[in-house]
Amino acid sequence: MLKKALLSIAMVTAAITLLFAASEVIEAASSPAAALTGQVSSQEEGRMEGVLVSAKREDSTVTTTVVSDAQGRYSFPSSKLEPGRYSLRIRAVGYELENSQPAEVTAEKTTELDLKLRKAQDLAAQLSNGEWLLSMPGTDEQKQGFLGCVGCHTVERIARSRYSAEEFVPLLKRMRNYAQGSTPLRPQVRPGAREPSQNQLQQMTKFAQYLSTINLSKVAKWEYPLKTLPRPKGNGTQVIITEYDLPRPVAMPHDAAIDAGGMIWYSDFGSQYLGKLDPKTAKVEEYAVPVAKPGAPVGALDLRFDPEGNVWLGMMYQGSIAKFDRKTEKFQTWSAPKFMENDEARLAMVDPAHINLDGKVWIGGDDEFRLDVKSGEWYRIDYSRGLPKNGPPADRLGSYGVISDSKNNFYGTNFGGQYIIRIDAKTLNVTPFPTPTPNSAPRRGHMDPQDRLWFAEYRGNMIGMFDTKIRAHARVGGSHRVDESLRRDFGQGWLRLDGRHEQRPGRAPEHQDGRVHRILTAADDQYSPRQHRQLSGPAGALDR
Ligand code: HEC
Repeated sequence: MLKKALLSIAMVTAAITLLFAASEVIEAASSPAAALTGQVSSQEEGRMEGVLVSAKREDSTVTTTVVSDAQGRYSFPSSKLEPGRYSLRIRAVGYELENSQPAEVTAEKTTELDLKLRKAQDLAAQLSNGEWLLSMPGTDEQKQGFLGCVGCHTVERIARSRYSAEEFVPLLKRMRNYAQGSTPLRPQVRPGAREPSQNQLQQMTKFAQYLSTINLSKVAKWEYPLKTLPRPKGNGTQVIITEYDLPRPVAMPHDAAIDAGGMIWYSDFGSQYLGKLDPKTAKVEEYAVPVAKPGAPVGALDLRFDPEGNVWLGMMYQGSIAKFDRKTEKFQTWSAPKFMENDEARLAMVDPAHINLDGKVWIGGDDEFRLDVKSGEWYRIDYSRGLPKNGPPADRLGSYGVISDSKNNFYGTNFGGQYIIRIDAKTLNVTPFPTPTPNSAPRRGHMDPQDRLWFAEYRGNMIGMFDTKIRAHARVGGSHRVDESLRRDFGQGWLRLDGRHEQRPGRAPEHQDGRVHRILTAADDQYSPRQHRQLSGPAGALDR
């Protein structure tokens, strides 16, 4: 269902980033001393909280970042920085580093280095996409168009352009014809490039008109004030971020997953490489993935392990899935039935997690399939098969994320709509379950060992949990199914059940089914007292 659900992938950079939570900070605090610490301040604000301070050792590919606390102190634990000479950089929107001398870190004692910040010369160069959207005039509907722009480059590129409304139309046509997996560093043209329809052309003309009001086509400088978002504070500063540079500048890591041995495997969205990163040594190995369809755009999206630890890839425009055998280090590929049909052959997702049961993998893309790996037989999912009479029409169904349970039944996330779609492995019958948030655009998900599907409600701004073990059509109060075990899994204070959807009047009966739960992921201190009362009231099962 790639066609129906606009595939917008967040900007990726040629680095893999790992976030370590507060527990690691506490652990680090018990080691003898900080390796490098100091005070961050500016004339404008005095001591500054929430400034990201990054350190990179000479000749190293690893960058470590910490965040200054409420007193404006930053501190790198000695477990994170080995002795050496480090270059430092900061991120605090609106500011830049005044004194950027390197820091000498030694094994014997803590290095003290205060950092002075001054107002940035070029604020526009520091704005995130979100800050650009906040700053620009225009309605939400007008800004919605940017959702189709941020997959390949930043909004800044558009804001700095000088195209008029008329000049934007051919540019928008050109953008439309780039394949996902393009960046300005390396454009790739879609094989199925088509002229826009009359309706699409109208939309483009309207968007082009709007774009010419927010860029530099008529003015030398933006007339709207550039707005910035607040820096992290409180618990938000308790993180350590480790970034690993990858060997190729055009690397576009899309999915990353950790294997049983602690190695991080990544797919590359714009190149035929499978990567393996050792987070302990920062060593990276890359394996060239065979080109299945010469001339078509290259790159892979989904990356998953089968029970033997082999790595599987969904190869997008290459119209194939690939398996990397860990023992032989060789690839095997299977091509979609529509292999030769341009865009139509795109395969994004593959789930081999339960291939050991029946020799079959589930696949998602322009169409969804089940592949029998031995016989090479492809079954194309028929969304009308066994569909309940009161369910949505089959043509509204399609799956972006593809996830199997412990019986190798299929669960699809209906990114174009609002359903978790179950397909029975034996009967191939289809049952859609609406998500608690209407029109939530469920995007991708993971099955936990208890057969609970965790998924992102992309437009609902929530994480959902679907308990697949509860029998179909069982009606259970929304909150009762989230129990103490979830608290253990995810840690106190992080996970909150939002019971409000049960109380909201006018909800269609189908949404009271209760097998999908909404979880708020905001930190505790981000809730208002009113929200706190709601969350810990009778509907908030976690607090009972
Ligand atoms: C699928 C990838 C992709 C998407 C989506 C995309 N772009 Fe681009 N964009 C590119 C590439 C590649 C370049 C550089 C090559 C070029 O200019 O054609 C680029 C360049 C640009 C430039 C600079 C052109 C110049 O002459 O310097 C502008 C402006 C731009 N894009 C606007 C947009 C807008 C507006 C959207 C959303 C409607 C968008 N892009 C969506 C890939 C994309």
